[in-house]
Amino acid sequence: MSKIREEGVIDPFSVLIDLENGTMPEPSNRITRKASDMRGYYADGKALEELITSGNDPLHYEVLERPVPQARGHLMYCISRLMPGRVGEELFMTKGHYHSVKETAEIYLCLGGEGYMAMKTAGGAWAVERMERGRMVYVPPTWAHRSINTGREILSSFCVYPGEAGHNYGDIEKEGFPKRIFMKGGRIVME
Ligand code: F6R
Ligand code: ZN
Repeated sequence: MSKIREEGVIDPFSVLIDLENGTMPEPSNRITRKASDMRGYYADGKALEELITSGNDPLHYEVLERPVPQARGHLMYCISRLMPGRVGEELFMTKGHYHSVKETAEIYLCLGGEGYMAMKTAGGAWAVERMERGRMVYVPPTWAHRSINTGREILSSFCVYPGEAGHNYGDIEKEGFPKRIFMKGGRIVME
């Protein structure tokens, strides 16, 4: 018998999350960002070009998901996996974004690896939170967010955010973040 559903209403489902390895074994979507997708984001553009050409354009990060409708009432969720590495002295990071609907928050539950979540508002506020296995970072509404991998393992998180949130990358592409995170002389520095 066919089921009558209201618009945006879907059937319940479940999906396996591999907590030990910080991954989703059977995603239906895999979004990838390679070094060549990161042009303009790092301080050392020359080092990035070297990584693209001599380093064979390595995977920077991937987002694994089984999407749900991008509509109010739904909860989007995904696994975000950021590789370890450096562009010059700057540690690998995600592009970072504001949510298009500014009133939407996000939860990142870190499943493995170590790093930081850098956050900023359009009004000039700035914050950074530690990411490590078992730690949850709450990104409040209006805060742009970017994760940075400071360790040697993949920095993996389970993310949840409202279905209608959307992603605004353009503003961060223009503004950047007030601070960058580097590995200098074996030490992690923020400047
Ligand atoms: C979703 C979210 C994460 C990121 C992912 C990749 O709102 O914040 O799932 O999308 O960590 O980072 P971006 O989207 O900045 O390339
Ligand atoms: Zn987000």
